[in-house]
Amino acid sequence: MEKKLIITKDGSPSFEVGALKETYHSRHGARTESEFVYIQQGLAHWHRQQQQCRVFELGFGTGCNALLAYEYAQKHQLTLEYTTIEKYPLTETDLEALKQHTYASTATGQDFFQLAHALPWNKKETVSPSVHFEKILGDYFEYSPKTRFDVVFYDAFGAHAQADLWAPTALEKAVELMDTNAVWVSYCAKGSVRRALQSFGLHVERLPGPPGKREMLRGTRVE
Ligand SMILES: C[S@@+](CC[C@H](N)C(=O)[O-])C[C@H]1O[C@@H](n2cnc3c(N)ncnc32)[C@H](O)[C@@H]1O
Repeated sequence: MEKKLIITKDGSPSFEVGALKETYHSRHGARTESEFVYIQQGLAHWHRQQQQCRVFELGFGTGCNALLAYEYAQKHQLTLEYTTIEKYPLTETDLEALKQHTYASTATGQDFFQLAHALPWNKKETVSPSVHFEKILGDYFEYSPKTRFDVVFYDAFGAHAQADLWAPTALEKAVELMDTNAVWVSYCAKGSVRRALQSFGLHVERLPGPPGKREMLRGTRVE
């Protein structure tokens, strides 16, 4: 997939994929969207009840969500186990372009960002005393972990670009990855996605979205 680096409205980078007519993040602000949807409505929401969190992310991509989760965990003393899967990793050329910019707000965050991209695939690493990180090279549809997760960052490309990842089968798989009380978050607000998640037993909230989006979804596994 050929990509072009873009700078979004908050000054943070993202990629545009011409063939998919899609971007990795919102053009209204890549970092702002990730911080709002995944960190505030996902990780911080979970942290109000629990001191540790097992995150599963669909789509490592630029590593923006992973970095923001790391910075959150360091700042708020959250014990974090972060697992992310990626089927189409960035190329060396993409990475070089991305590294001219930053999502980090701390020096340790920036160090983590560099490390996260450099670490080998499919190997769980201790990146700080309270943060474990693993990136899996593979297809979400073939992923079958032994553990369950507390928070799912469902960050697939939009349905017009990758309809299969928003179909009921894919969403049911995400629910199966979730432990009781676990939380699923996404920038997506599609009615069909909300109804599918509800049919698989999640309590789904329609929350105000990040800049440029009226709504987003958060689901909680109540059974
Ligand atoms: C919207 S981008 C995610 C952005 C990413 N979370 C970030 O912070 O940059 C979607 C990501 O999902 C990946 N992806 C697409 N299909 C996938 C699949 N079947 N399994 C795993 N990853 C997939 C894409 O390559 C892309 O990196």
